[in-house]
This record gives sequence, C-alpha cells and structure tokens, in this order.
Amino acid sequence: MEKLIKEILVEEKSIEEKVKELGAKITEDYQGKNLLLVGILKGAFIFMSDLARNINMQVGIDFMAVSSYGRTSSSTGEVRIIKDLDFSVENKDVLIVEDIIDTGYTLAYLTDNLRKRGANSVKVCALLDKPERRKVDVAVDYLGFAIPDEFVVGYGLDYAEIGRNLPYVAALKEEVYK
Ligand code: IMP
Ligand code: MG
Repeated sequence: MEKLIKEILVEEKSIEEKVKELGAKITEDYQGKNLLLVGILKGAFIFMSDLARNINMQVGIDFMAVSSYGRTSSSTGEVRIIKDLDFSVENKDVLIVEDIIDTGYTLAYLTDNLRKRGANSVKVCALLDKPERRKVDVAVDYLGFAIPDEFVVGYGLDYAEIGRNLPYVAALKEEVYK
C-alpha cells in the first residue's frame, strides 16, 4: 500500500479532532429537530460511524448507495441510485454524510432528490472537498477539510477498492490512476 501513496494529506489525529468538532456543532444546531443521518456508501462508512458517535442526541441512521466512478477517476455527471433508503424522509431533518465533494454532481442530485421526497430540511456534511474540481454549485453546511486537486484514499475512500481501511487520508501517486 505504501508504494501507491504519494503523501498523507490529513493525519489520523486531525480527522479525530475535526470529527469531534463537527459532531458538537451538529448536536447544537439540531436541538429539538428530527435528525436523520444519511450516509453515502461506501466511501462515507467510516466517517459516518465516527461522526454518529460524536453527535450527542437521538439520531436516525440510514444509508444510500449511488453509482460512482467505478475503476476510473473522472466523473460523468450521471448519478444512479443503487441502494435506496430503508425509511421515509418525510418530516425528517436530513443530514447527508458524504466522504468527498469533487464535481458536486452526486450531492446536487441527492439534495434535490431528498427534498422532493418531503424532508423538512436537507443539509450536507462532507469530510473532504476539492473546490478546484467543482462543476455544479452545492452548499456544504459542514466541512472537514478542503484539499488540493489530488486523488485520495483512506478513511473510507478508495481507488478501485484499494485503501479504504487506512486510518488517514493520503494522495495516490499519479501513475496509479492516470
Ligand atoms: P462528485 O459527484 O464528482 O462530487 O463525486 C463525488 C464522489 O466521487 C465521492 O463520493 C467519491 O466516491 C468519489 N471521489 C471523488 N474524488 C475522489 C477521490 O479523490 N478519492 C476517492 N473517491 C473520490
Ligand atoms: Mg462516495
């Protein structure tokens, strides 16, 4: 694995501190609301589980899976639901928990889709953001880290299923994905 990695961009300790901070902020902001966390599989599975444990109130937990890059590293703009939610979002305050925002297509689609299903509110919490890559505007309400335009793995994120279980976020060597 180390042979594939160029450099660590976000250390384990920094992630831990940031997730605590985000959890505290979300707990404060959602007092008296009907919070439903919607994790986007598979990339957000580690972030989701750490974040949920740092939110100090009753929350609902659900997951969706959408089509992603597969084995290539460029987005098409086409989003497809592969696994839908188990529960209705009606009257829920939905917080989408995503690993990374790249072009923004995935989140633009998901926020629109969940709003149309009658959610009370739909907000976004993303661990990482690559602002240079944005193609469509999406409001990110809670953000961990803005990172440069690099393909990253770790803390749930993968390249062709490689690297998901690394405890930090690291940039891949360009020769791996180009
Ligand atoms: P978007 O629709 O272009 O914003 O793409 C977002 C999705 O692409 C994320 O949920 C990730 O699954 C994937 N993605 C984008 N950049 C990276 C990366 O650097 N590493 C791993 N996955 C990425
Ligand atoms: Mg993803």
